[in-house]
Amino acid sequence: MNSALPKHVKLVEVGARDGLQNEKTPVATDVKIDFINRLSRCGLATIEVTSFVSPEWIPQLADAEEVYAGIDKVEGVAYPCLVPNVKGIERAIACGVREISVFTAASETFNRKNINASIAESIERFKPVVKIAAEHKMRVRGYISCVLGCPYEGPITPAQVADVVAMLDDLGCYEISLGDTIGVGTPARARNMLEAAAKRTSIDRLAVHFHNTYSQALANILACLELGVSTVDASVSGLGGCPYAKGSAGNVATEDVVYMLHGMGIETGVDFLKLLDAGDFINAKLNRTTTSRIGSIPPANRQRPERFHTA
Ligand code: HMG
Ligand code: MG
Repeated sequence: MNSALPKHVKLVEVGARDGLQNEKTPVATDVKIDFINRLSRCGLATIEVTSFVSPEWIPQLADAEEVYAGIDKVEGVAYPCLVPNVKGIERAIACGVREISVFTAASETFNRKNINASIAESIERFKPVVKIAAEHKMRVRGYISCVLGCPYEGPITPAQVADVVAMLDDLGCYEISLGDTIGVGTPARARNMLEAAAKRTSIDRLAVHFHNTYSQALANILACLELGVSTVDASVSGLGGCPYAKGSAGNVATEDVVYMLHGMGIETGVDFLKLLDAGDFINAKLNRTTTSRIGSIPPANRQRPERFHTA
């Protein structure tokens, strides 16, 4: 194994949030709860649950309170939720959320379309949120969207991303997730962007979040792992997309990431076959076909990656 690669990768499962925020037909609250409970039994360290955002903007997640209250909270699993403003964190606190994520972008136009604020305004908006979070001993993650391209502005430079990394770092985010929202990146660009970002915070506080529009996500993840990243966002069965980013396809499928990592001897703690079962469950409920080749293998024929892994 390449000695530069991490021995363990923390996966952040975003399917219930990034995935279900994008479904055209509403998903019943009890289905969301059942889905998250299944994910909780897969060995994932972090499962993003929902968003406390405006129900006018994201009607798919208007049941955030009910979902958060209804899920089993498994010891040792973190259940973060997205929060855009003070109203969002107040709602989150009222139902017992322990960890939140704030979200901004490296593109002014995307940010305006997504959260109705400039980048600078969004940071100002997050300041009281982070203060309230600290008073409640809640951890705050930060997201940056459009790190490799914007549906409105086109290419985004590493310097633009690095500036926003510095802002979220100053704000006190314990982790900053770099989002290729529309999945246009390729490994060399991902590497350049990450190198610039890592100059403004430490690499172990950076996470990567690739959507898979052009099937580059796994290659991009590997390029970033080689630079020392050890936190990867992914979405079971490739669920996902952002309603305010036209052309945004699903996230990289968690099972694809797990197969690659376990096959390379990198631990995640995730039970690969249970994860695939959770994907089958939500696909059946959504009447949807998985975007993962692995997920389309019939259950009886699926093999754990370790079976083929030689030392
Ligand atoms: P706004 O319209 O400018 O908000 O939206 P406002 O402060 O003017 O308030 C307007 C109304 O919304 C008021 O209600 C507020 O109370 C209400 P009224 O008085 O008119 O009845 N409101 C809220 N209600 C419930 N919860 C709240 C809340 N805030 C205000 N938290 C706002 C600004 C930020 C609220 C809105 O733009 C919004 O909610 N946007 C969310 C968009 C979103 O969730 N996008 C997807 C997530 S980001 C993503 O997917 C990318 C990511 O995956 C990484 C990647 O891939 O790049 C993370
Ligand atoms: Mg996303």
